Amino acid sequence: MKKLAVIGIGRLGLCFALNAERVGYEIVGVDINHEYVNQLNQKAFSSPEPHVDEYLSASTRFRATNDFSVIDQEAIEYIYIIVPTPSLPDATFSHQYIDEVINQLCLLPTPKNQKHIIIGSTVMPGYCDQLIVKLKSLNYSISYNPEFIAQGSIIHDQQYPDQILIGEGHPKATEFLKKLYGKMCLSHPDFHVMDRISAEITKLATNCFLTMKISFANSIGDLVIQSGGEVEKVLSAIGADSRIGNKYLKYGFGFGGPCFPRDNQALLKYAEQKDTSLPLSQATIEVNNKHLYFQLNELLAENKDTYVFDSVSYKKGTDILEESQQLKLAVELAKKGKRVIVKESTMVRGQLEKFYPNLFVFE
Ligand SMILES: NC(=O)c1ccc[n+]([C@@H]2O[C@H](COP(=O)([O-])OP(=O)(O)OC[C@H]3O[C@@H](n4cnc5c(N)ncnc54)[C@H](O)[C@@H]3O)[C@@H](O)[C@H]2O)c1
Repeated sequence: MKKLAVIGIGRLGLCFALNAERVGYEIVGVDINHEYVNQLNQKAFSSPEPHVDEYLSASTRFRATNDFSVIDQEAIEYIYIIVPTPSLPDATFSHQYIDEVINQLCLLPTPKNQKHIIIGSTVMPGYCDQLIVKLKSLNYSISYNPEFIAQGSIIHDQQYPDQILIGEGHPKATEFLKKLYGKMCLSHPDFHVMDRISAEITKLATNCFLTMKISFANSIGDLVIQSGGEVEKVLSAIGADSRIGNKYLKYGFGFGGPCFPRDNQALLKYAEQKDTSLPLSQATIEVNNKHLYFQLNELLAENKDTYVFDSVSYKKGTDILEESQQLKLAVELAKKGKRVIVKESTMVRGQLEKFYPNLFVFE
């Protein structure tokens, strides 16, 4: 079997690589982090993601390297890139890390047989089409295949997707992905193959819709609470309509984490760049903020001296504090002079002590 290169073997890339390894692919993971690469090769890395440690230690066809020249091997025909694309202050994504990978590839000899690059990172619509201009003469195709996963269940989510989204750059790359996911997925997902820009928009729009649904549930819930009604029953009845569905229609904390808020804002920005607007995405952000203050006032109305948070990460069981609404609530309560007890892992506690010294009491 041909080898697959996975460039960027971080949270998502490592899970993708190990999932593919388990179904028979030989994987070369390329990453710029030397210490991490050594840890992976020695199987001395421990991940907070379920199954990663177990899959890594059982793996026999995965190895990691810092050396980009491995891509030059003829056996590597497909190159999956999943490096970070952090948000910039204007809400667009920085493609700097993908650009760096592409520059490294450009330094290699032009492949005799065409190689196929598959971008897994979340990118701004239009980015992959820009790359094609740069790479076509160098005998690479570019496809887009983003991931729909949640932190804390990445391995599982990669094995049980509802759909596989492909922004097609070459029919061979599409066939490769269909074969790979056919083996890797236990959920028989639908394949949605389209042009690259449509896939880039679809990835962001999916998360926009989910944030909108969460915000809708929370705003209806706030109204029901203000009216003295039964939130769970109301939302469960609305979700029972099969046109709506119960998933993501629960009352709770606002949306947060490393994907939802930024994908929503990025699509909003992209619409602006196209001289149009997405008022629903704008309203979704406003509703999320409004809901935070509704919840804060509800908590303050309990008039307690001490508040206890079992978790302040954006999703219980993860160590991610980015855009966590739970953390925002805890901070607001502490700033109002309340004693806030946080029960969290040592990793999260370290981050809190660094960014919010002396604000919380830990248990
Ligand atoms: N984390 C999520 O929940 C999530 C969900 C969906 C999509 N995504 C997208 O997936 C992409 C990757 O996210 P992640 O959470 O796995 O990131 P990560 O930071 O955990 O991992 C990225 C890895 O890429 C490596 N890297 C950086 N620059 C490199 C380079 N030039 N060459 C080789 N390796 C390089 C880093 O050392 C790191 O190991 C991002 O675009 C993100 O938006 C993430």
